[in-house]
Amino acid sequence: MKGVILAGGSGTRLRPLTKVTNKHLLPVYSKPMIYYPIQTLLNAGVKKILIVTGNESAGDFMKLLGSGKELGAEFTYKLQDGSFGIAHALSLAEDFVGKEKFIVVLGDNVIEDNISEAAKDFESNNYDGLIFLKSVHDPERFGVVELSSDKITGIEEKPKQPKTNFAVTGVYMYSPSIFDIIRKLKPSARGELEITDVNNALIERNKLTHKMLSGFWSDAGTFPSLFRASEFAKENEEPSSNSKEH
Ligand code: G1P
Repeated sequence: MKGVILAGGSGTRLRPLTKVTNKHLLPVYSKPMIYYPIQTLLNAGVKKILIVTGNESAGDFMKLLGSGKELGAEFTYKLQDGSFGIAHALSLAEDFVGKEKFIVVLGDNVIEDNISEAAKDFESNNYDGLIFLKSVHDPERFGVVELSSDKITGIEEKPKQPKTNFAVTGVYMYSPSIFDIIRKLKPSARGELEITDVNNALIERNKLTHKMLSGFWSDAGTFPSLFRASEFAKENEEPSSNSKEH
């Protein structure tokens, strides 16, 4: 399977840091944020990775990541003109993914789980989408599912009164059928094409399945969540030769 990392957007919740650089280049403890979704894909055996980012920082991403050789990956880059939402960024991946199912990770998501088994299952099943859920204490910050006996009946984006505590994490698996769905989407109230609308369209067709993440998950798009992600990264960093330096 191929992978897509969405690393655009304006990072407004991390201003003033994001006035001078792209959110996904900021540090999560000892590494740039984007290294974590890259590692999630590499751990799942996915080496061919498309990085979608905005025009301003594209050169910095290339400088940091290059061809991918050093990390054992093969990167392709695509530019998104402006911040028109996650589903819009994803639409730019159509040529790259071709006819096969693929994995999408939002560039600010740090996850502990290995998703390779889920990817194997998804590749051979009849679903067009798989989302990963995690129980959180602040669901109003996320896409939140409504469940009826373990079946998702709908997703609300950043609801004021969430119906459950299960947030939709930024790890998704899709078939190329979603590109037709994206073409028909209308911008939301915040003027963006929402990934939640893509997932709701799949729910209507009975084509969306889900799994729970069992390990740590955080986005890193706000100061508290960036801090949490950094703490996790610090605790999990493999001891290196300079680990004695404090
Ligand atoms: C996006 C999605 C949201 C999801 C979240 C996960 O939100 O719109 O449904 O729960 O990523 O990180 P954003 O971070 O763009 O506000």
